[in-house]
Amino acid sequence: MVQKKIAVVTGASSGIGAATARRLAAEGFHVVAAARRDDRLKELVGALAPGCATAVTCDVTSDESVADLAAAVGRLDGDLTLLVNNAGGARGVDPVAEGSVADWQWMYDVNVLGTLRVTKALLPALEASGAGTVVTVGSTAAFVVYEGGGGYTAAKHAQTALVGTLRLELAGKPVRVVEIDPGMVRTEEFSLNRLGDRAKADAVYAGVREPLVADDIADCIAWAATRPQHVNVDRLVVRPIAQAAQHKVVRE
Ligand SMILES: NC(=O)c1ccc[n+]([C@@H]2O[C@H](COP(=O)([O-])OP(=O)(O)OC[C@H]3O[C@@H](n4cnc5c(N)ncnc54)[C@H](OP(=O)(O)O)[C@@H]3O)[C@@H](O)[C@H]2O)c1
Repeated sequence: MVQKKIAVVTGASSGIGAATARRLAAEGFHVVAAARRDDRLKELVGALAPGCATAVTCDVTSDESVADLAAAVGRLDGDLTLLVNNAGGARGVDPVAEGSVADWQWMYDVNVLGTLRVTKALLPALEASGAGTVVTVGSTAAFVVYEGGGGYTAAKHAQTALVGTLRLELAGKPVRVVEIDPGMVRTEEFSLNRLGDRAKADAVYAGVREPLVADDIADCIAWAATRPQHVNVDRLVVRPIAQAAQHKVVRE
């Protein structure tokens, strides 16, 4: 019997993660959809063909919860060949002078330490598959800074440092390390979580013709993950055509 390939997607309960889970299921992976909101994961999995996906409740800021995720993956039939570290987000737009330590801690924990915890827990299985891939969803905030973005850009810079280090450390082993860095993506919750207000969240995208959508990033992830195994897409930076740079957004 041919063993099915397993893909774990963190932050699969909304936005980019949910789109990626759907896309990878369509590509033939058995998808483990992980996030904290179990009801949303069940809805996602229920809408896919039977047997295509498994919902696992997981908080990437908890060592215990991530250990449970690894155990759940280990109980499935098939080889874990793909991990998508997508869980993350931003909180607040305070200037550094008024930065909320709690918000900065949250951003570091979920984006950076979450990536560390899940990667550590699943690397042995990815390596044992003989053809593993770790895709991490970073951001253009991983390599530029902007006013009011200190906490988020610091976390995303740290996350890209983790990814680059991991690639060096895994050289010679059968695990690729890929980073996808999106610019402006209009997802249901990202800006709402950051700004705490629907009107402010909508203003982020006001007048921007065709911001990226979650499916655009899912497409990039699926593309990178389905190249021949000797091809490592180190970093893919993707923005909407209306955004030439972080500070250069055309609004109509
Ligand atoms: N939207 C953009 O413009 C944009 C641009 C560049 C990069 N990104 C990055 O892309 C990724 C996804 O963003 P998105 O736009 O899809 O945001 P989103 O819609 O807010 O989704 C974030 C996901 O992360 C999960 N999550 C948050 N905290 C978690 C935790 N402690 N444990 C497990 N899962 C957790 C959430 O699920 P639960 O709440 O159910 O746990 C949710 O599924 C993030 O890393 C973000 O930084 C987004």
